[in-house]
Amino acid sequence: MIRGFIFDLDGVITDTAEYHYRGWKRLAEEEGLAFTREDNEQLRGIPRRESLLLILRDRLYPEEKILEMMERKNNYYLQFIREISPRDLLPGAKELLEEVRLAGMKNALGSASKNATEVLDRLGIHSLFDAISDGHSVERQKPAPDLFLHAAGQLGLPSAECVVVEDAAAGIEAANAGGFHSIGLGPWERVGKAEAVFPSLSGLHLEEIFTALSLKP
Ligand code: G6P
Ligand code: MG
Repeated sequence: MIRGFIFDLDGVITDTAEYHYRGWKRLAEEEGLAFTREDNEQLRGIPRRESLLLILRDRLYPEEKILEMMERKNNYYLQFIREISPRDLLPGAKELLEEVRLAGMKNALGSASKNATEVLDRLGIHSLFDAISDGHSVERQKPAPDLFLHAAGQLGLPSAECVVVEDAAAGIEAANAGGFHSIGLGPWERVGKAEAVFPSLSGLHLEEIFTALSLKP
């Protein structure tokens, strides 16, 4: 039996994954570091510091410089999200959030971002969530299961009764490690370890999800 859904934010509900990429890309260019869209695939769902360390590879920098680069990227990101409005919801996202509620189930957010609530507010969908777990909620972020366990705890549900919706390999790994059902959005190479894979939330309804997971609503 499923009683809750836990949604990742960036790349699932809105395309802020693109803004994270552009922020890192600009920083990498300023620092003379090679960083491609392909490299960025490894960064999906990964927290700010760990993302930067992946971009820096084995180069060593003083802590002060690391903190400055994290802040610089975040400032670029904040500039991008200032323009976000309800028009930036990805197709099908709001519809599924509403369908979950109508079916008597709960919605939680499970995003590693420290900017998640600001994005939700700008999208105008904060009230569709019963719980928010974000970059401030736990120490160990994805691929550890802690963030999703935190979200399920806030909903008062065991992980086996929740479906995690993710676009990142690290997010699917976290869901699997926590004993959650999982839906991967995007290419198989990225989210193929999910229980069910769909290209996006566009046109996706509960019935199709439950069928794919061999579950009953
Ligand atoms: C999400 C995104 C990542 C981002 C992380 C931290 O997991 O998918 O790309 O690095 O959040 O976001 P923040 O807004 O706190 O830098
Ligand atoms: Mg994501």
